[in-house]
Amino acid sequence: MTEKVSITIDGKTTELPVLKASEGRSVVDVRGLIAEGIFTFDPGFLSTASCDSKVTYIDGDAGILLYRGYPIEQLANQSNHLEVCYLLLNDELPSQSQYDSFESSIKSQQTVDPNFQNIFNGFTQGAHPMSMVSAAVAGLASLFHEETDITNADDRMQTAHRLIAKIPTLAAMAYKHGRGEAFVEPNDDLTYAENFLNMCFGTAGEDPNVSPTIAKAMDRIFLLHADHEQNASTSTVRMAGSTDCNPYAAISAGICALWGPAHGGANEAVLLMLNEIGDESRVEEYVNKAKDKNDSFKLMGFGHRVYKNFDPRATVMQESCHAVLVEQGVEDDALLKVAQRLEKIAREDDYFIERKLYPNIDFYSGITLKAVGIPTELFTVIFTLGRMPGWITHWNEMLSAPYKIARPRQLYLGESSRDYVSISDR
Ligand code: SDX
Repeated sequence: MTEKVSITIDGKTTELPVLKASEGRSVVDVRGLIAEGIFTFDPGFLSTASCDSKVTYIDGDAGILLYRGYPIEQLANQSNHLEVCYLLLNDELPSQSQYDSFESSIKSQQTVDPNFQNIFNGFTQGAHPMSMVSAAVAGLASLFHEETDITNADDRMQTAHRLIAKIPTLAAMAYKHGRGEAFVEPNDDLTYAENFLNMCFGTAGEDPNVSPTIAKAMDRIFLLHADHEQNASTSTVRMAGSTDCNPYAAISAGICALWGPAHGGANEAVLLMLNEIGDESRVEEYVNKAKDKNDSFKLMGFGHRVYKNFDPRATVMQESCHAVLVEQGVEDDALLKVAQRLEKIAREDDYFIERKLYPNIDFYSGITLKAVGIPTELFTVIFTLGRMPGWITHWNEMLSAPYKIARPRQLYLGESSRDYVSISDR
């Protein structure tokens, strides 16, 4: 028996079905309202489910995050990013032979056409890598537009493999161009994270020399960022993809949405904030700024639309962060001291407690990336690399079933109809 809710407007009652979730909150199906000429109003979509999905489940109050049903803590400790890419795309963990075949497919597509590499020459050396990466991914449409039939499941999976394979190479090329250094070609003998680090920090023509500790931390950062339900950038990919546009264009739109400091750009913003605070003695001053309604300053890396308890990724990231800091011998780092004091105060301050503002993944990923020597401008590019499998999985999920172009309506508060007045009469 389907549960229903009734809504009465101007004396007319409409019954709306309640759709049950397999986990978490059920939803009121409001699609029947359009026949009654009624819109719902929910700026920012705080109480709106834009789609159904089987990919990722979040319980923000309980601090639960599942990728295809597997807890993020177990995946972070027992799996790796490539295996999680397979899991997200295929709904099941791979057998050894499936994993080997997937890894081989990814490794065989890591190179970027030498002529295409010239796209980076269009950017000044000071350009932010996110502007280069979003342009380069959109540019992939020029290479694969004709051969990509988005209605064909095999073509969609090929697109997914291609993007997962090439995003580390494009990200590293953006970084190298920004530094005025020669590109380092992908190395199939290295793991996914080792290869990315070598293409960023290695030297063309020289043997790789990648720290296993840093590679492990980087792989875990990729894994923890792999997907997160209908966040702003994933919703952007779905919205763009709903127009049947080229998938590389839809993903590029998601990269641009991720760049914002309220979203994936927060990890870079955390470091800029810590540098601005500079010393433990100034932490209270900045906490008070964050609480001041007349001050637009916010504590970067704190708060979350969904997590109102703790971000389970942040917990895993915090453990990884501490291990890396000890390994790197920088546990006494001044900025880390500022971050630790900031976290302590925020956790004890009523303003943050009442609003359930806790450190999110970006708070710890920013500190960890700094500890392993990653330049700040690469932080959000690393988030992009990690989130790639999530974006393309949601795009594929949407296109694997009937869908409609995303086209929200509005609450109109403008002028009623009025006649044009010639300029001589105004
Ligand atoms: C990511 O959606 C996802 O899943 C995103 C993500 C993913 O994996 O895809 O998890 C990745 O984007 C994590 C979030 C990274 N962003 C930041 O760390 C930037 C700082 N955080 C804020 O901008 C904010 O907390 C958001 C954007 C994360 C959430 O904003 P909401 O849900 O719209 O909450 P809100 O702005 O309505 O805040 C509620 C209250 C307000 O105060 P009141 O008006 O009630 O008095 O809390 C305050 C806000 O002013 N507040 C903060 C704050 N965040 C919220 N005050 C100070 N510092 C902050 N960081």
